[in-house]
Amino acid sequence: MTAVTLLRPRDAAVTADGWFARLWRSWTARRARREHERECLVFAEHLRYVWRDACEGVGACRMVDTATGMTVRTPKIGRIVLGPPTSFLVELIPGQEPQDITRVGDRLAHSMCFERLRVVPYAGRWVRIELLAADPLDEQFGLDRISVRTCRERVLLGVDEHGQELHHAFAGAAHVALQGQNGSGKSQFAYGLLSQLAGADDVRIAGSDITGLLLGRPFDGTVHRPWQMAGTADIEGHALLLERLVALMDERLAALPERVDKLEPSPSMPLFVVVLEEFPGLLRAAGALSKPARGERAVIDRIKSANLRLLSEGRKVAFRVVTLAQRAEAEALGGGFARDQYALRLSFRVPGDSLEMLHGPTARELGERHGTAEPGIAVVSAPGHELARARVPYLGEYAEYCDRIATTARKEP
Ligand SMILES: Nc1ncnc2c1ncn2[C@@H]1O[C@H](COP(=O)(O)OP(=O)(O)OP(=O)(O)O)[C@@H](O)[C@H]1O
Ligand SMILES: [Mg+2]
Repeated sequence: MTAVTLLRPRDAAVTADGWFARLWRSWTARRARREHERECLVFAEHLRYVWRDACEGVGACRMVDTATGMTVRTPKIGRIVLGPPTSFLVELIPGQEPQDITRVGDRLAHSMCFERLRVVPYAGRWVRIELLAADPLDEQFGLDRISVRTCRERVLLGVDEHGQELHHAFAGAAHVALQGQNGSGKSQFAYGLLSQLAGADDVRIAGSDITGLLLGRPFDGTVHRPWQMAGTADIEGHALLLERLVALMDERLAALPERVDKLEPSPSMPLFVVVLEEFPGLLRAAGALSKPARGERAVIDRIKSANLRLLSEGRKVAFRVVTLAQRAEAEALGGGFARDQYALRLSFRVPGDSLEMLHGPTARELGERHGTAEPGIAVVSAPGHELARARVPYLGEYAEYCDRIATTARKEP
């Protein structure tokens, strides 16, 4: 009986830890390892083949004339890591840059039956290609209750496709333009931005908001509120507010000491973040007002010229303009000159032509995909940074924004 039991390996493995069970386990483990290695080799070979095929298909290759005829040269694959994520090193062909692969990344990934592809510089002419089964920006994330103490600290803008956080310090000289279709996440992004900034001693959140949601009521009783105009009941009031800001800017410019061309923000001389929510709507509302009396300027012209002055001269004396629009057409932003002044630009879901309009021709490749982007996904251009796709944080309910402003913003004395 004992001998029979030993010859039944499954029972032996379960019921006893004898020599046969150990032998059986190590044999099955070795066999599984060998099978796995064989499958890995087959997969690696398949990857080399589909990579070469995909590169040829999207034109990331070069035709070389040899003695035996024309051959196609594609970026050569080096070490492969099965992941996840599946990744491999690639040696770029001479003259090729990592951006040349990124530009056709989506088409390459789809040809290889993956959802996305990430190009990470590795060393010299080598880059690492990471194949992703899902868009890394698919998952929404919240914004911790973080608030900066000064405009020199950086606020969180979002997280890019590499999982890197993107930040921006408002003390850095940059006006900000946000565009995006209805419901694409502009206001939510602005909620996150302002809730991070509202508690800084050397910042005043000013501006005009015809919707009355971003500015206005949430700031009642705070030091920021006197510098804000909300709602559509008094459109001329928006012009007056912007003119008040221009007058302050002029005062600051005139008071700059000799041999100084830039004002350092401080609690007594705060940096003004001038938010213009739905600015094209404000211009439309101002344009619909009745004609001014003889000798008076039209409200729309007053708004446009104040906006232009803040954009062109405000930078030196701590004024930063943040403009939100559904489409950043030159006309809608107060002219082509005005639009050119924005250094930090974010586009939420917009059609391809609008994307290119704000970010230039390098954004063309992203155009098709970005036209159907989920709310909260933006294309970001910033000085010194390559164009990036990012997901911005989501604050949640509107009441949460109101609560954060109420708890962090300094109250009026
Ligand atoms: N970062 C985000 N993550 C997830 N969902 C978001 C995000 N931002 C916005 N949303 C969703 O999209 C909806 C619309 O967002 P939001 O009001 O910010 O759009 P908008 O671009 O300001 O639109 P409008 O032009 O109409 O003012 C939100 O109510 C929310 O459900
Ligand atoms: Mg909005």
